[in-house]
Amino acid sequence: MLKSIPASQGSGRAAVGGPFRLVDAKSGKPFTDVDLRGDFGLLYFGFTFCPDICPDELDKITEGLRKADGFEEKAHPDAPALVRPVFITIDPERDTAEAVAEYLEDFHPRFVGLVGSPDSVREAARAFRVYYHKTAEESDGGYLIDHSIICYLLDPNGDFVTFFGRNNTADDIADVVRRNVREWRRSNPGWRPGQGSGGSRTRSTGERQAMPKIEDDEAAVAVPSAPPVVAEGVAGG
Ligand code: NI
Repeated sequence: MLKSIPASQGSGRAAVGGPFRLVDAKSGKPFTDVDLRGDFGLLYFGFTFCPDICPDELDKITEGLRKADGFEEKAHPDAPALVRPVFITIDPERDTAEAVAEYLEDFHPRFVGLVGSPDSVREAARAFRVYYHKTAEESDGGYLIDHSIICYLLDPNGDFVTFFGRNNTADDIADVVRRNVREWRRSNPGWRPGQGSGGSRTRSTGERQAMPKIEDDEAAVAVPSAPPVVAEGVAGG
């Protein structure tokens, strides 16, 4: 377990995450909490009809991961840690597998999209203490959903490490991911990234942007310190 980056005070680490059963939008195959193991994961709950907040957050996750990818591919060309981003819909009514798979084409190519029945989505959201609620507000003729704006970093055991909120930047994500991956390699010398089960293991190829220069430093990084909360309830998020 990682000791250097506290998940939160007290029992926070154990309180986030749990069993769920969803479906991988791209492959159509079942995807459960067990499939999160093997690799680091970045989990985000949202919906494809979200007008601005979800796309912004997914852009940020994409950019943060690209920076971390650049570092990892340089430092460990034999086995870069290909952290897996996961988008879980909280709009089972409208977000079909097809819709989610298509939506994710705009973001990091490793994104795994997860869909499911209203019950299975509720179960997953509850496991990660994510709040969502359909509102009376409309956008382009459709309803909006209030939801927690939160991105979880999970370690290769599928355990909660920390989280990122709206105030965190892509650099925060890149720094924290890199630091945790480095830490994990140190304490788990036998670990080979890319062994995670489930999801798309496709490596990022085309449309790769120039990587900002990142040094393997021990610089202090902004680690979110507040414990995850049940609901942020950002309207129209
Ligand atoms: Ni949203």
